[in-house]
Amino acid sequence: MAKFLVTGGAGFIGSNFIHYLFGKYPDVEVINLDKLTYAGNLENLKNIENNPGYRFVKGDICDAEIVEPLVKEADFVVNFAAESHVDRSIGEPDDFIKTDIFGTFVLLEAARKYGVKKFIQISTDEVYGSIEDGSFRETDALMPSSPYSASKAGADRLAYSYFVTYKVPVIVTRCSNNYGPYQYPEKLIPLFVTNAIEDKKLPIYGDGKNVRDWIYVMDHCDAIDFVMNHGDDGEVYNIGAGNERNNLEITGIILSELEKPKELMTFVKDRPGHDRRYSVDCSKLHALGWQPKHSFQEAMKLTIDWYKDNREWWEKIKSGEYLEYYKQHYQIEG
Ligand code: NAD
Ligand code: TYD
Repeated sequence: MAKFLVTGGAGFIGSNFIHYLFGKYPDVEVINLDKLTYAGNLENLKNIENNPGYRFVKGDICDAEIVEPLVKEADFVVNFAAESHVDRSIGEPDDFIKTDIFGTFVLLEAARKYGVKKFIQISTDEVYGSIEDGSFRETDALMPSSPYSASKAGADRLAYSYFVTYKVPVIVTRCSNNYGPYQYPEKLIPLFVTNAIEDKKLPIYGDGKNVRDWIYVMDHCDAIDFVMNHGDDGEVYNIGAGNERNNLEITGIILSELEKPKELMTFVKDRPGHDRRYSVDCSKLHALGWQPKHSFQEAMKLTIDWYKDNREWWEKIKSGEYLEYYKQHYQIEG
């Protein structure tokens, strides 16, 4: 049976991807390599940890000594490991450059040395930068505008170079904004849902009219599995669900679903370099035969219900270190 090395598997999308793999391929083998930064949480994998096909390794993708034997064992490498939050990249970009670029380099070098059946580089739609009208295609220029998206763009193109130069079977995916269970409550949807549940303010940056295309995390996982099986080496695939909403609309949905008052909304200072709109054209992936399975309305409800039903999961996170960061970042009392 296929053996996967999933990096960053204790984070939001990585842990959902591991759930997805065991749900779809019961006898799959998965090694989860994760450094367990503030964003890594083994609670996300509680019901999988005793599965005989699952192994967790605590380690840094920048460390070749740890990475090499794991890549040597694996058939498929799926690289989710990254520093992933734009706001943190503005304050302290160092770790973004280290993990997102150098860490990807270490993984690619190991794949070159030992060979793999497929190397999936999880990139992001943020590498294109902002777009007023229309949608980006895979061949459009990359114009990343935050240290986060710039570091992801570096890794994205580095992965491509390993295909061209060394014939490593790389596929790059550029997905839009994800939402769903186990998302660290610093990102818009889990932050606003959990704040609203606690009757705390929802800090909207700028005028709240920034647009993102929202995709349910399980649809993203499904698309990754799909391109791994049906995509071509050396290619880039945009992944999105065609659910463009601005932040005011997202906030309205959350408040109305939780029956909370509009007064919880508070407009705060805008994020520096805040991208106005992300939009990707997914016709390349659609032509290959993939479509998302979840409707936005249904999956948003599933997501909000998950945070309502799993208070313990996020209450543990939203204390201590998190609270300090939050107070400093928004300069408001948590
Ligand atoms: P996350 O921050 O929730 O998880 C990142 C995981 O990587 C954590 O478990 C963390 O401990 C681990 N990690 C960080 N540095 C590491 C290192 N040096 N070595 C090993 N592990 C390390 O992020 P996420 O939202 O799950 O995103 C996963 C990937 O998907 C990222 O590459 C991100 O750029 C990409 N992506 C995210 C979105 C989104 O909406 N969240 C959209 C498109 C692409
Ligand atoms: P985020 O979840 O950080 O994802 P990204 O910036 O990578 O797209 O933010 C999504 C949108 O929500 C973005 O336009 C910034 C905005 N936002 C707020 O208005 N307030 C917040 O507290 C956060 C975290 C985000």
